[in-house]
Amino acid sequence: MPHVHKGKSSERVLDKNRILAALEGEIVPGRVIWDAGCGNGYMAKEFAGRMDGRGRIYAMDIDEEAIGVLRQETQGTILEASVGDVTRETPIEAGSVDLVYSCTVFHGFSKEQIAGFRAEVARVLKPGGRLGVVEIQKGELRFGPPTEIRFSPEELQAAVGLPCLATIEIGPSFYLQLFERA
Ligand SMILES: C[S@@+](CC[C@H](N)C(=O)[O-])C[C@H]1O[C@@H](n2cnc3c(N)ncnc32)[C@H](O)[C@@H]1O
Repeated sequence: MPHVHKGKSSERVLDKNRILAALEGEIVPGRVIWDAGCGNGYMAKEFAGRMDGRGRIYAMDIDEEAIGVLRQETQGTILEASVGDVTRETPIEAGSVDLVYSCTVFHGFSKEQIAGFRAEVARVLKPGGRLGVVEIQKGELRFGPPTEIRFSPEELQAAVGLPCLATIEIGPSFYLQLFERA
């Protein structure tokens, strides 16, 4: 049975400054970023705030309510909020994205969805573009998804199937893995 995300946002449990520090050099004016499974879009808004009105941020989620709110909050900015399934082909132009960012979404995918996400990431990323995945550590934590569906960094690397540039601790409970499109 597919995992249902109970917590709709990682905002209260993640240190966004550590994520921004880990992605330093990726979030700069003019870049095109896809926040895949953006939830309430709190990180997409952080990215937009660092891009000086230049570039584009696609913030996408299947949750219509969250996207409706985000769309209202970000009208007239470089952030484009849309309802969409990130494991299927999206309207994003092929080869147009510098960075795909996906935070605490991957562990909920079925095998078929992982394959679909991998294909879509490969389609939208520019050559040399990056994928940043934030996931929750395995082990006993009083929050988060069941341990058996979590990914260790090694398991995540194998599931993503792209060259891994770095694994960065994001506080005691999370890590960010950065991949590059070959
Ligand atoms: C735990 S929340 C994390 C949200 C956000 N990334 C954050 O860090 O706050 C997981 C999100 O993934 C979204 N999601 C799950 N499967 C999805 C899919 N196939 N396509 C788009 N969004 C999806 C859910 O609707 C939910 O908003």
